[in-house]
Amino acid sequence: MSMDPIAEFKSRQRETWTLGNFGEMAVFTTPVAGHLVRYAGVTGGQTVLDVGTGTGVVAITARIKGARVTGLDLTPALLAQAKESATIAGYDDIVWHEGDAEALPFPDASFDVVLSQFGHMFAPRHDVAVSEMLRVLKPGGMIAFATWPGEQLIGRMFDLNAKYVPPPPGIVSPVHWGDVAIVRQRMGDSVKRMHAERGIMAIPALSPRHLRLFLEAKTGPFIRTAQALQNDPASLEAWRNEMEELMHEYLHDNVVRHEYLLIRAIKA
Ligand SMILES: C[S@@+](CC[C@H](N)C(=O)[O-])C[C@H]1O[C@@H](n2cnc3c(N)ncnc32)[C@H](O)[C@@H]1O
Repeated sequence: MSMDPIAEFKSRQRETWTLGNFGEMAVFTTPVAGHLVRYAGVTGGQTVLDVGTGTGVVAITARIKGARVTGLDLTPALLAQAKESATIAGYDDIVWHEGDAEALPFPDASFDVVLSQFGHMFAPRHDVAVSEMLRVLKPGGMIAFATWPGEQLIGRMFDLNAKYVPPPPGIVSPVHWGDVAIVRQRMGDSVKRMHAERGIMAIPALSPRHLRLFLEAKTGPFIRTAQALQNDPASLEAWRNEMEELMHEYLHDNVVRHEYLLIRAIKA
């Protein structure tokens, strides 16, 4: 009997994020974590959940602010890095969970704050992920997340990956989470005082080719796309050329600068 398509997609996600070394990419998501945790108003004593924690940059930042923190991710290899990183920061009391944004293993109303930085956007059923995140949040608690807008570099690169290697039918693009109108519609009346702002992620690079090679070596979704095109050299070359062409637009003075979106809202 074949696996159900959603379970199969998640099993592939788990493998994808194990490829390369996302920890080296997380150097660039670390400043975003500082922004997200401040934007969500995390303070000492709050209970905080970080969904799609990866190597733990948001979870550890919230812990440094004095919160009681739980980090959850689909990918055990990244959780192992998160634990090691927390120990380096001097915190062995963060609770790390292997788990799925679409089936959070916590009772209703468990947390004061639920965060996700470029994490829950990769869960295939967006409505299920957001209802789970709101379910485990206390009424009056804060939900806040960072996502990639579709018209910025990473959103456009994800669309490019999907053009060359289409996702399975029924899987919605993660960059829908980067559209404020769609997010507003998804959260609906479950939240109040929704607010959005943007920040800029900066990645040093000497040339588009340097950045493209870095992504292909370190970051699962790009490694996956290159692997999928391995037996089709013409498409592989066309994909690489289009990636580099896009990067040219954002590379100035040896820095690639592109915007991310932050959203926060209070559970009604
Ligand atoms: C781009 S990384 C972001 C990691 C980290 N939050 C950061 O900002 O550096 C995406 C993360 O989402 C996780 N992820 C993907 N699908 C998930 C799901 N359904 N449930 C939980 N985590 C998921 C991946 O394993 C990966 O660690």
